Amino acid sequence: MTTTMKGEAYAYAAYSLFAAEADRQAHPAVGKLFRSTAQTELNEHLREAATLAGAVGSNAANLRQAINGETYEHQVMYHRFADQARTDGDLEAAKLFTEIAADEGRHRDAYRTALTVVTTGRGTIPAPPKADTVSVPAGLPKVKAARTQANLDTALHGEALAHAKYMLYAAQARQTGNPALARLFEGTAGVELHEHFAGEGVLAGLVRPTKKNLSKAITGEHNEATTLYPGFAKRATAVGDTAAARYFRDTAADEAKHAAAFQQALNQLH
Ligand SMILES: [Fe+2]
Ligand SMILES: [Fe+2]
Ligand SMILES: [Fe+2]
Ligand SMILES: [Fe+2]
Repeated sequence: MTTTMKGEAYAYAAYSLFAAEADRQAHPAVGKLFRSTAQTELNEHLREAATLAGAVGSNAANLRQAINGETYEHQVMYHRFADQARTDGDLEAAKLFTEIAADEGRHRDAYRTALTVVTTGRGTIPAPPKADTVSVPAGLPKVKAARTQANLDTALHGEALAHAKYMLYAAQARQTGNPALARLFEGTAGVELHEHFAGEGVLAGLVRPTKKNLSKAITGEHNEATTLYPGFAKRATAVGDTAAARYFRDTAADEAKHAAAFQQALNQLH
């Protein structure tokens, strides 16, 4: 389910950027298609996978999960990526990874404070951080080493998942009467998506001209529809997990529809 949530979160984030590029290139219908598909990935596919996996718990449990994730990114992952990028001569990537590592430390600290407030009832939930939105126009990769490119891909998936999880945690906080915690999760989710994912997307050359974005999306959807999710469904059936098996079959069918809709949009652009 982690693989599924990561893939769905990534599809949501990438399609949101592809939608903005389609709008810039004056293809509003394609922009609309990317945006509505992005919503399906986040609000249906990812949300249902999170429910099946029990990924959302109490506010305290969610904060502990978030603190673990931020601590790993802050102390381990982004430092390693920065060191490797420096070694490989990708100095711009090294700089971005170092900046993001510092942000993740601030996210961890704010969540730690919030956890104390939630568990003791004393103190104030910190104000949410503000995202410095990065725009991601079509462009080629700005890194040279294959290792940097691979690290960027890992980081992009991690940022997309962090964004999606924090949005789910925010909904839980709001439902349980803690709007200040909901705002902290939403604000942090915004930084993960609009600043970290977007900044890494620029260096990775994630967004290309719209035709290329459609082709990439078709390849991804086709793989999910014909290989990834049918395989997961088979494995879930084999271990008697009928709810998960049904989820993977239904989701595979949705992805086939996404592939077909993107293909139709691509045909109309030619
Ligand atoms: Fe999906
Ligand atoms: Fe973070
Ligand atoms: Fe982040
Ligand atoms: Fe899809």
